[in-house]
Amino acid sequence: MKILVINGPNLTLLGRREPTVYGRATLADIEAMLRLEASRLGMEIEFYQSDIEGELVRRIGEAAGAADGIVLNPAAYTHTSIALRDAIAAVGLPCVEVHLSNTAAREPFRRRSLTAPVCVGVIAGFGADGYRLALLALAQRLGANAKEKSARKGAKR
Ligand code: DQA
Repeated sequence: MKILVINGPNLTLLGRREPTVYGRATLADIEAMLRLEASRLGMEIEFYQSDIEGELVRRIGEAAGAADGIVLNPAAYTHTSIALRDAIAAVGLPCVEVHLSNTAAREPFRRRSLTAPVCVGVIAGFGADGYRLALLALAQRLGANAKEKSARKGAKR
C-alpha cells in the first residue's frame, strides 16, 4: 500500500516558523516519524513538498495509478486553491487533509477549506502527530476496502 504525503508552501520553515502555533518539529522530523509509522503499518510512503501551487497540482495528478491514498497539508492553499481541490477530486484517491494547527480556532480566513469537501476527512490541531493519525486513518480505510472487495469477490464465486 503506497501513500503520497504532500506538503504545501512554507512548511519547509517548520521548526522555526511560529513555533507556538506549529510546534518545534521540522519537516524532516515529520518525514522520519512518518517513515517509522509507515514501516510499522507495512505501508510505503513518498514524501513531497512544494511552495508552488502548480507543482502540487501536478504531483496529485501523477498519483493516479501510482499511489493508494494521499495525506495532504495544503498549507495556505487550503483557503484559496480551487486548482488543488479539482486535482484531488479528479485523481479519485482517498485524501486526508492535515493541519498542524487547529485552523477552526484561528483567524476567520483559515476557517474555510476549499479542499476539505473533496477529502475523506480532516485532522487539525494535533501538531506533527496529525500526519501519523492521517496515515492510520488511511491504513484502516484502505485495509477495510481491500477486505470488502475480497469478500465481494468471494460472494460472487
Ligand atoms: C496550516 C494552516 C494554514 O492555515 C497555514 O496557512 C499553514 C499551515 C497548518 O498546518 O496548520 O501554512 O496548514
